[in-house]
Amino acid sequence: MRHATTFADAFARARAHRSSLLSSTTTTAYRLFDGAGDDLPGVYVDRLGPAAVLGVYDDARWSEEAVSAAAATVLEATRDIGIESVYVKRFLKDRSRLGGKPPAESTSHTPRAGIRQPEALTVYEYGVGFEVRLFDGFSTGLFLEHREHRRALAERGATRALNLFAYTCAFSVPLAAAGAHVTNVDVSARYLEWGKRNHALNGLDESRVRYSRMDATAYLAYAARHAHERFDLIVIDPPTFGAGNSRRGVKPWKATADLPKLIAAAAAVLRPGGQIFASTNARELAVDGELTSMIEATLGRVRWESLPPWPKDVRERGRVAATLFTPR
Ligand SMILES: C[S@@+](CC[C@H](N)C(=O)[O-])C[C@H]1O[C@@H](n2cnc3c(N)ncnc32)[C@H](O)[C@@H]1O
Repeated sequence: MRHATTFADAFARARAHRSSLLSSTTTTAYRLFDGAGDDLPGVYVDRLGPAAVLGVYDDARWSEEAVSAAAATVLEATRDIGIESVYVKRFLKDRSRLGGKPPAESTSHTPRAGIRQPEALTVYEYGVGFEVRLFDGFSTGLFLEHREHRRALAERGATRALNLFAYTCAFSVPLAAAGAHVTNVDVSARYLEWGKRNHALNGLDESRVRYSRMDATAYLAYAARHAHERFDLIVIDPPTFGAGNSRRGVKPWKATADLPKLIAAAAAVLRPGGQIFASTNARELAVDGELTSMIEATLGRVRWESLPPWPKDVRERGRVAATLFTPR
């Protein structure tokens, strides 16, 4: 079967490229296969401790049989590094046949290959623990491409940080571990609870961490009115789209239209010399230079700060952009 040979070969090359990560005991979450960056657009494999998550988009043009064969290949090729299960997430553009719902498999305990895993697992990045969930829908709780950014931001010595669109507070945990006071803002109570567990998992002092269930734009408007709400680091890593909720004062979010206004509002609550980390997966902004051009068009001249290169397991270019800067 030609497909199986092709994926098996590409997976073997991808694995070889990550050899230094495979033996790490302090980092157990990383991308094993990164779509076009590993020669197969639309196919992604994340390692999350004892499990792999195989993400398949329409561009792969894979049948169900091809997905099952790939799951079996991943399991066979990673047993030696302790992977016991392969869970599958199919990202279908047209979900009309499923009544608009995500495929049932994304919330099923049963993996496509291997044994069942518990509902929650702990994985590590440079020794920092995070709770991940393998069958909680499309997301698992940790966006792996920001591993080096999380570490680099924590090393910058911020005393007061604001994490907008905090999700499971993955940016906050290393910052709090480095001694910062962090305010996490997200519209989802459930994700903020998950974020609390991530801090607890690492034995962090809860008195230094705040959680605010609020719309990010509304939070910045509140902060602008309160002089004590000023920060020396603001993390802005929003979704491309977010559903609104008029009852809770949450406007629908669209990164291409709303990110410039949000960055301007964030700059207004920075302490002098404070920095903003901004990242996006929005296709129009993630391509080369678009995010930085948008920031300059919004704020005028800024001082660009250095960030580490993308980790070696993140190989697909143009999917995500990130930048750190000091407004002038
Ligand atoms: C792609 S995730 C953000 C990733 C996150 N920054 C991280 O470090 O993993 C999307 C998050 O944005 C939140 N969200 C969506 N719209 C929002 C809004 N208007 N204000 C605040 N949070 C929002 C969602 O609840 C979800 O937790």
